Amino acid sequence: MAATQQLSHVLPLGSRVNDLGHLEIGGCDAVELAREFGTPAFFVAEDDVRTRARAFVEALRARHDDFDVLFASKAFPCTAVYRLLAEEGLVCDVASGGELHLALRGGFDPARIYLHGNAKSLAELEQAIDAGVGHVVLDSFMDVDRLERVAAQRGVTQRVLIRVTPGVAGRTHAKISTGQADSKFGFGLDDAKLAIERLRASDSLDLVGLHMHIGSQLLSLEAYRPAVEALASLGDFSTYNFGGGLGVAYTAAQHPPTIEAYVEENVRALHELVGSDKRLLIEPGRSLVANSTVTLYTVETVKRNVSTWVAVDGGMSDNLRPMLYGSVYEAFFADRPEQAGTGETCHVAGKHCESGDVIVRDVPLADPQPGDVLVTPATGAYGHAMANNYNGIPRPPVIFCKDGDARVVVRRETYDDLAARDV
Ligand code: LLP
Repeated sequence: MAATQQLSHVLPLGSRVNDLGHLEIGGCDAVELAREFGTPAFFVAEDDVRTRARAFVEALRARHDDFDVLFASKAFPCTAVYRLLAEEGLVCDVASGGELHLALRGGFDPARIYLHGNAKSLAELEQAIDAGVGHVVLDSFMDVDRLERVAAQRGVTQRVLIRVTPGVAGRTHAKISTGQADSKFGFGLDDAKLAIERLRASDSLDLVGLHMHIGSQLLSLEAYRPAVEALASLGDFSTYNFGGGLGVAYTAAQHPPTIEAYVEENVRALHELVGSDKRLLIEPGRSLVANSTVTLYTVETVKRNVSTWVAVDGGMSDNLRPMLYGSVYEAFFADRPEQAGTGETCHVAGKHCESGDVIVRDVPLADPQPGDVLVTPATGAYGHAMANNYNGIPRPPVIFCKDGDARVVVRRETYDDLAARDV
């Protein structure tokens, strides 16, 4: 029966079609959500994020003793998401002073935070040390020098990891591939050896291990093993961080590896190539949060020329990914989800003053009309995170949905917010 069926794996876990024939997210009717909270807006099925966080933890617990799952918080840096994942017992990866600020606000114990960044400022390093951040992941010789000075001045010993670019690139879009030797991130293998020597001589920095992140939205796990092999050539450490990268399904045709398969591959590589007595860290971002969230838009206009253009009330200000990476999304209407994949072939366009502001190309839509509530699934990762104010569009709110209740966790921006920094 339609009312109980789990819809496409692209949608949040627990999504269904309700008795009215509407899409339901976290027990909430999507048509009602749009009416109550307005559009565009990000709606997060809270239980979906919790379930995925637990899946990472349980998959690791079943295979390895000493581990932590780090939330790569760049994927969805909002206080409520930090709070939720802190509650789930995760550890946190921050990539800037701003993310550090939010992680602390969300309740992460500073000792359970890792600070990343290829261009950390002196102020960010001071902020991290003063906050008592557990680990800093070092990215360059200048980073080493600068952190050493700050730690020495403060009279503290700071635990650090070295980020290594193992010379193995995960197969993904060039803009989110990071493991290759010619990368702005990390130390190449030869430099990593020098950095290790340099750190072993340091009084104020305590090198505990190595980090890598070979790329993002990886739909195959094949690059992890050779990358771990490269790390293993650098000596013996107590801690290994294999980064994030597990891909997700943006469309029903995509079938990424499961969380279980991803963890299995990482643990096997650790055990076989490094050792089973190590502390293993993994750092998922996208795969924790992407599919938890849908964006709801309202159709403003429908125009037919060579193509049919269905223009909505958001666009590249709430989802830059199609423009940056050519990312594909699905689209369908909230009040007739069972007609998804049927109808006239359309382009879903945003409202911004750029021809490239197209959220979904060539998607069949069933009789698009102004006022229709359009759903794009899988917008939890790097959606809110990369939202912007192009054309003076206020950024959308974030709304958590659970068991039929919905609550705003980030409010919609106002026009006054657009002028809030004027002096
Ligand atoms: N760890 C480090 C050091 C990273 O740089 C990243 C992502 C992650 C973990 C998490 O990777 P994930 O599990 O999310 O793949 N804006 C792009 C993604 C950029 C990813 C940057 N680093 C996008 O929208 O696809």
